[in-house]
Amino acid sequence: MARIPDAFIDELLARTDIVEVIHARVPLKRQGKEYSARCPFHDERSPSFTVSPTKQFYHCFGCGAHGTAISFLMNYDRLEFLDAVDELARAAGLEVPRDTRQRNANPDTQDIFKALDAAAGFFQRQLAASDKARAYLDRRGVGEAIRAQFAIGYAPDGYSALKDALGTDPRRMQLLERAGLFSKNDRGHVYDKFRDRVMFPIHDRRGRVIAFGGRVLDPDAAPKYLNSPETAVFHKGRELYGLWQARQANQALARLVVVEGYMDVVALFEHGVTQAVATLGTATTPDHAELLFRNAPDVYFCFDGDRAGRSAAWKALESVLPRMRDGRQAFFLFLPEGEDPDTIVRSEGASGFDARLRDATPLSQYFFDTLSDGISLGTLDGKARLAERAKPLLAQIPDGAFGDLMQQRLTELTGVGARPSVAEASAPIRRHGSQPLAPPRRSLVRSAIALLLQQPSLALDLPPPYRFVALRQPGIDLLTELIALVSVRPEITTGALLEHFEGREEGAALQKLASQSLPGDQASWREEFHDAIAQLDRQTLQQRIDELQAKLGTGLDEAEKVELRELLQARR
Ligand code: CTP
Ligand code: MN
Repeated sequence: MARIPDAFIDELLARTDIVEVIHARVPLKRQGKEYSARCPFHDERSPSFTVSPTKQFYHCFGCGAHGTAISFLMNYDRLEFLDAVDELARAAGLEVPRDTRQRNANPDTQDIFKALDAAAGFFQRQLAASDKARAYLDRRGVGEAIRAQFAIGYAPDGYSALKDALGTDPRRMQLLERAGLFSKNDRGHVYDKFRDRVMFPIHDRRGRVIAFGGRVLDPDAAPKYLNSPETAVFHKGRELYGLWQARQANQALARLVVVEGYMDVVALFEHGVTQAVATLGTATTPDHAELLFRNAPDVYFCFDGDRAGRSAAWKALESVLPRMRDGRQAFFLFLPEGEDPDTIVRSEGASGFDARLRDATPLSQYFFDTLSDGISLGTLDGKARLAERAKPLLAQIPDGAFGDLMQQRLTELTGVGARPSVAEASAPIRRHGSQPLAPPRRSLVRSAIALLLQQPSLALDLPPPYRFVALRQPGIDLLTELIALVSVRPEITTGALLEHFEGREEGAALQKLASQSLPGDQASWREEFHDAIAQLDRQTLQQRIDELQAKLGTGLDEAEKVELRELLQARR
């Protein structure tokens, strides 16, 4: 596979500030030379996640997660490598080398995005041309600005409007089909999937159209809503309708409001509630929960007050519990029968809807109310039953104050503790420790490597030839390789350097060494490094002297005699 040149990646990482990239997603606290936070990749009580601005990498002492700004975006925003590179390049004002880019990107996926984008454009033009569809949106109070913001369109009636417009050759037909825009009958005949429907494009986190939801105009037609099938670019359990628009409309999202329908999102935006998102005709999945909390600390779930709504709310709660790290809050809002956020915001306005949100039930209350339903807490038996029901659920809450409070509440209600006390629970975690262990005593080689990892550019003022490469000591080959790597990639950061060794036997040891914080500053590191190299050189010299002297008995040839004399002189 064609690769983006290493030099470009090095430059990109050199021009990117990993602290800024991570801080925008996970608030970091300064701690000496580094920054720390509770690790976003595992649940923990005390912060073991560190970000080093000088080494340009992150490392978690708890779970071992580590990498560069690129790998952070890949793991946290779930971007593909190329998308992560793209995103950082955009921010840094760099152009990704084009031909490698094109060869690299999966051509099919790119073309599916293009097909979806073309279809969205087609639907929008059809809306402009359809009195009937525009009248429908007028009637439902969806104004021009919101139509544009959500790229709402119209799929005309008939079986081949889209096909005729965009499926002009077999290749394009195939792309539209893979984009989920066609249906096929028993005889293999392909036709437009969406017909006579208002079209709501679904955007991914980068604003690309990845799917559609279509609503019928004709009240007698069924189904009322039709969604794109799962495709290579659309997995409905991982996407939220409106998230792209919410992120565009808000500098920082203090809250997200999860509603059930497309029209609910659109109506809320229309009335100025620009933090609404919808799941796409599915229950809230754990992926959704994570995505929601990554974007906002407070999440409100809105459901119908009916049975179906209650059961959907409980499913949402189950998905959310394992994500309830400290600082995150979830609320549940149940609407009166027959109402949805669309009707509420139209009749009560944004202020009425906000007032309802303020009255929403906190997760803790909803949790205990629901579990105690039908149980008499005045009896021992009832208390035991509540504890029984709560235990497995509480066990899923990550360590932290929220979990402790939930536990306390259960104890208040039942007198039964379901989890070990705070002190017991936190002890083993502290032992893993957020602090790096005291650095072990190092050999010279080890310390030279540690210094290089601290500041790769140290290798640059060390011109070859390197005498020490001949030294027979563990780690010498690695040190030589590191110096050679830095000399061909002068801009390489520690993070990128570690990445280079990822998957190799040495990778883990290097990672560990790099994550230690060395005392001193750049000047003292330089001195130590040169010192270490000089000593290694002397040891190499001595190694050769010992070799030659060992041979003295059996006799040295002329050249060897000269060499030994010179070496002995050099040693002095
Ligand atoms: N839904 C779906 N398929 C259906 C019905 C509903 O996928 N056949 C999903 C849609 O995402 C829809 C949501 O469930 O937006 C809520 O459905 P419903 O309450 O029936 O519709 P509303 O959102 O109220 O739609 P409208 O106001 O347009 O009638
Ligand atoms: Mn509705």
